[in-house]
Amino acid sequence: CGIVGVIGKKNATQVLLQGLEKLEYRGYDSAGIYVNDQQGHDYLVKRVGRIKNLENAVTDDVVGSMGIGHTRWATNGMPSEANSHPHLSNDERFYLVHNGVITNANALRDQYLQGIELASETDTEIVVQLVALFAREGLDAKAAFAKTLKMLDGSYAFSLVDRLTPDTLYVAKNKSPLLIGKGDGFNAVASDAMALISETDQFVALQDEELVILTKDNIAIETLAGEPVSRDAFTVKLDDGEISKGTYPFFMLKEIDEQPIVMHRLVDAYTDDEGQVSIDSDLLAAMKRADRLYIVAAGTSYHAGLVGQALFEKLAKVPAEAYLASEFGYHQPLLSERPFFIFLTQSGETADIRQVLVKIKAQGFPSLTVTNVGSSTLAREADYQLLLHAGPEIAVASTKAYTAQIAAEALLAKALGEVKAIPEAAQFDVVHQLGLASTAQQALIEQKDLIHQWATDLFATTRNAFYIGRGTDYYVSLEASLKLKEISYVQAEGFAAGELKHGTIALIEKDTPLVAFISDPETAAHTRSNADEIAARGAKVLRIVTQAQAQDEDQIVIPDIDPLLAPLLSIIPAQLLAYYTSFDRGYDVDRPRNLAKSVTVE
Ligand code: G6P
Repeated sequence: CGIVGVIGKKNATQVLLQGLEKLEYRGYDSAGIYVNDQQGHDYLVKRVGRIKNLENAVTDDVVGSMGIGHTRWATNGMPSEANSHPHLSNDERFYLVHNGVITNANALRDQYLQGIELASETDTEIVVQLVALFAREGLDAKAAFAKTLKMLDGSYAFSLVDRLTPDTLYVAKNKSPLLIGKGDGFNAVASDAMALISETDQFVALQDEELVILTKDNIAIETLAGEPVSRDAFTVKLDDGEISKGTYPFFMLKEIDEQPIVMHRLVDAYTDDEGQVSIDSDLLAAMKRADRLYIVAAGTSYHAGLVGQALFEKLAKVPAEAYLASEFGYHQPLLSERPFFIFLTQSGETADIRQVLVKIKAQGFPSLTVTNVGSSTLAREADYQLLLHAGPEIAVASTKAYTAQIAAEALLAKALGEVKAIPEAAQFDVVHQLGLASTAQQALIEQKDLIHQWATDLFATTRNAFYIGRGTDYYVSLEASLKLKEISYVQAEGFAAGELKHGTIALIEKDTPLVAFISDPETAAHTRSNADEIAARGAKVLRIVTQAQAQDEDQIVIPDIDPLLAPLLSIIPAQLLAYYTSFDRGYDVDRPRNLAKSVTVE
């Protein structure tokens, strides 16, 4: 979910709606705003579905100088107007938007709210009703809010309005992301800087368990214990223009097309004037001390982490393993003596990853966040950060962040290998290889028509699909199948090519689509035979093969590159296959059902 709030802006309604549009990637089941003109009029508008539905429902008379807004990704209770935010107390005094999950909400309801009729199935409504209850018992708004916050277990980013004091916004955060936007004569709050970037570039970060009293001229932060906190603003550089899709029908296609440029941007960012790889020496020193790298991530970023394992082991000769954040946090493996943690996260906000960061920090271990968003929670909270320079990624299905993560891992592995004087690192000309990758990606992107044709032939009507490969090609299979699943709703699976015959081959029928990735010289022949075995059972097989391994029968040939970096190329046709399948089926490619780009709940 995403939240936004503003105080001291004549056009609060527009600020909220524009903010919500920018936050839509966090969820789009339903949305709502509450605005107050501070002269006795206020409005609450909510709609199920996209922000567009809400915008259409907001009439010209909905004006205000302060307000709060929310776009929802359902956690408690199905998407409906009743469950959408802002929620209000039964006495209609308090309005609240919330991102996060309150795990003890039902217990609090049973204990305090007996006899109070609830309009929704949400944990958020329980919170706003509690605030109202404590206010009725005699506390002022801030004290009632603080008392409620102290009772809550779980995660929250809140923005609360008390109708009796519409010159104030009450804000609080625990675990869920939240930033204050500092303006001239106004102040604002949002889950993500992007939501407010057309209003201000000055932001104040909040820590967990802090409460903020926001007026148009003042930002008063305090801890839940009531201790005042002073914190400076920082500047966020984000180009508003980068957040528009120009002439593209969907952001995903634009972002696929941007990958060759992103390779160059990464090389520029992490090389010195002599063209040598140059990365923060403190970070490299900390990594050099490590006897094992733990790469922790989710979704597509996890798939980039799997590729990273090979890069770090081969170039820096340090054992490396990728873990799913949601598993690692609660089943921490036995750690090595000197672990080093790498958090791979496009958004820098994924709750599953953050809970691991919090836990390993408490154990005193060093960490790095590799992220696309420098102002994000994980970027700020790890010891070190490395930026992906991919530009805002808006489509829910990740493309350029995946390839940027792999390229960043390659640069980092090379730099680490060099400080450890590893010969393989010295021989690996990463700058040259990423240059090759960029050119080759461009060549593949220019084959859109051919790939579109393959999408039609293979996937137009299918309900399932398989992707196979070995080594890093296997990891690409996992990512390629995730792309197809996410946006075209085809049930797709990625398999280690050698494993398919041990069970899953039973699913192969006439015309079952299979995509085989073949780039690794060592296993090319084996994967090719596995693909043949599947073809012999009636499957339609598409082989995506590097030039060096290609045979006449291969349909998509990718330029040669160091096998460690082949994923940077082989994923391109797979991204396009997924894109065209979704597009041809008439789906909203950028906003697939049920998903959110950044999942800020565990
Ligand atoms: C969500 C998105 C995925 C993404 C994953 C991890 O589930 O839908 O596309 O890969 O989160 O996101 P992160 O921002 O941490 O890379």
